[in-house]
Amino acid sequence: MPTRDEIINFGAGPASLPTPVLERASADLLNYNSIGMSLVEISHRSSQAKDIMTSANTHLRTLFDVPPTHEILWQQGGGTAQFSMVVYNLVAHYVARGGNVGKMTMDYIVTGGWSKKAYEEAGRLGVGKANLVVDARKGNGGKFGIIPAEKEWGWSEGKDCAFVYYCDNETVDGVEFPGFLQSVDPHVPVVCDMSSNILSRKVDISKYAVIYVPPSRLNRVDSVGWSTEECWDSRDHDSDCEKRYP
Ligand SMILES: Cc1ncc(COP(=O)(O)O)c(C=O)c1O
Repeated sequence: MPTRDEIINFGAGPASLPTPVLERASADLLNYNSIGMSLVEISHRSSQAKDIMTSANTHLRTLFDVPPTHEILWQQGGGTAQFSMVVYNLVAHYVARGGNVGKMTMDYIVTGGWSKKAYEEAGRLGVGKANLVVDARKGNGGKFGIIPAEKEWGWSEGKDCAFVYYCDNETVDGVEFPGFLQSVDPHVPVVCDMSSNILSRKVDISKYAVIYVPPSRLNRVDSVGWSTEECWDSRDHDSDCEKRYP
């Protein structure tokens, strides 16, 4: 059986963790903080669990330089659940701003399999029009692998655009944006899937309405505070934010 030292993980998905971190996690799994119980045996509403969340939030805020304008929400469902959650919540935000759903568009930049799935989910939900700003396969032999120049993109009309969506790093297709979108309308909320490159570089969070990463998401505070009746409780940023930050 190979030892940990002998394995080098080049996987695009889960990364290796330092052995001391895993040793500490293993110990806590048996007896968390010497309380005589496992971390997975205590209530998620206990003071210990709350302390873990507070500490995780504080660390993430420091590491990722999260400004006070943004909240961190820890939610269930992984990345795939966010494909519909962002639509529910950002459409509600658009309506709350006085937008007309009949004219509404949602701009999707498709540079790989994950943004393609998100775009398809927005179309499947059937609210407004999911606008394909760019499909990176066109002009690249039908394959993902490049980011076409922004001058070739087809943004929709800013005032009727509920949000712009893109995936900062396409895990499977290996396509990473070098920085923030250059030609995006600054008034349109930007949603970004940073599942596979979060914390790998500095990011100006103030430019984003929502950044999500399984299993957490970072939400601009003013983008929380609206919800739709169709949005069930655990999918609603507003209700989630209230529960966690009463
Ligand atoms: C960039 C990206 N987005 C979304 C997902 C989907 O996340 P989940 O598997 O948690 O649904 C993944 C999963 O690997 C991913 O790499």
